[in-house]
Amino acid sequence: MSRLSTSIGGFPLLNPVICASGEPVMTEAGIRAALRAGVAGVIAKSVNENPAGGRQLDRADYVRLDAQGVPTAGRGVSLFNRSGLTQRGTEEWFAAIAAIDREVGREGRFVAASIVYAGAEGAVSIAGMARRAGLRVFELNVGAPHASEAAAGAIVQETDPGRLTDLVRQVRAVTEGMQLWVKLTGLSSNLPALAVAARAGGADAVCMMGRFMALVPDLETFAPVLGTSAAYGGGWALPIVCRFLALTRKATGGDLPLMGTNGVRSGGDVLRMALCGASATELLSIVMHEGFGGLTRVIDEVDSFLAERGLTFRELIGRSADALTSYGEQPETPDRWKDFVPKETLA
Ligand SMILES: Cc1cc2nc3c(=O)[nH]c(=O)nc-3n(C[C@H](O)[C@H](O)[C@H](O)COP(=O)(O)O)c2cc1C
Repeated sequence: MSRLSTSIGGFPLLNPVICASGEPVMTEAGIRAALRAGVAGVIAKSVNENPAGGRQLDRADYVRLDAQGVPTAGRGVSLFNRSGLTQRGTEEWFAAIAAIDREVGREGRFVAASIVYAGAEGAVSIAGMARRAGLRVFELNVGAPHASEAAAGAIVQETDPGRLTDLVRQVRAVTEGMQLWVKLTGLSSNLPALAVAARAGGADAVCMMGRFMALVPDLETFAPVLGTSAAYGGGWALPIVCRFLALTRKATGGDLPLMGTNGVRSGGDVLRMALCGASATELLSIVMHEGFGGLTRVIDEVDSFLAERGLTFRELIGRSADALTSYGEQPETPDRWKDFVPKETLA
């Protein structure tokens, strides 16, 4: 077993880097390029049953932001965008990605189907199509950030644990023998409860957390950049994701496999998410900032870190999460605050 290998429950992964769903993997060529970059697998661009989701792609727009959240002509560190879904027919798309999945399955990689949730009936029907196509992994995204802005019913966010259990149970019933991964929103602080709810419905793993909604005002035009609120993530989000991973690991007793997404830009970031409980990570923006080669760079960085220290990836999973303590457990340091204020405060 290689030092990079990991697994989502009983589903083995060659390494902890998965190319997440998004426009770069909306074509077979893009999926193949991601796989050539060395990822363990690809979550193909999402579908759903509502044609408004696909139509939204024609109104999608994107801008690169710097670390302060200001638009930049450079490569940027964050994407700010409104997105849409694939316009390919679902059966045809699933047949195409299943063919690649069969091919790369021989070398231990996978291609997953993904749905951005719009309603239980559609989710059940599309999950059934994924199974009939022979796909092995189905990711159910119940937390796409665009839900509040897209056409009514095109995208639905599920943040109620009871309803989520119900939904996952229905999807589970038609995905027997497949991996069922549930991708949760970043727009709720209820993630541990949602993860518990997804497990109760029969999910094999959860992925967290979706990007946030933001507004970027333009100092030249005084108008909102892109004209709308839009989704925003970045390296700055990583510590927030890490905390929710750790809290979820605690809430689930460590027996629900977790995946981290939102903010991974380096091998160190993959490892930070692993320390908080992630068995693998899903990366997308990096591909839009630096191309598919960014995925190779991240995998190489994880490998070098482990090789230099004689460690395996698996032995790092959850180490920071399990060492997490509460405020009340800290030693008292009464004057510590004085090191962090201007000297005038103490005059
Ligand atoms: C342009 C764009 C399109 C995306 N489309 C989807 C999608 O169709 N389905 C989905 O589940 N997630 C989608 N995502 C979310 C990503 O899969 C990923 O979880 C998120 O961008 C956070 O990871 P990152 O910081 O590595 O980008 C999209 C993200 C971006 C930036």
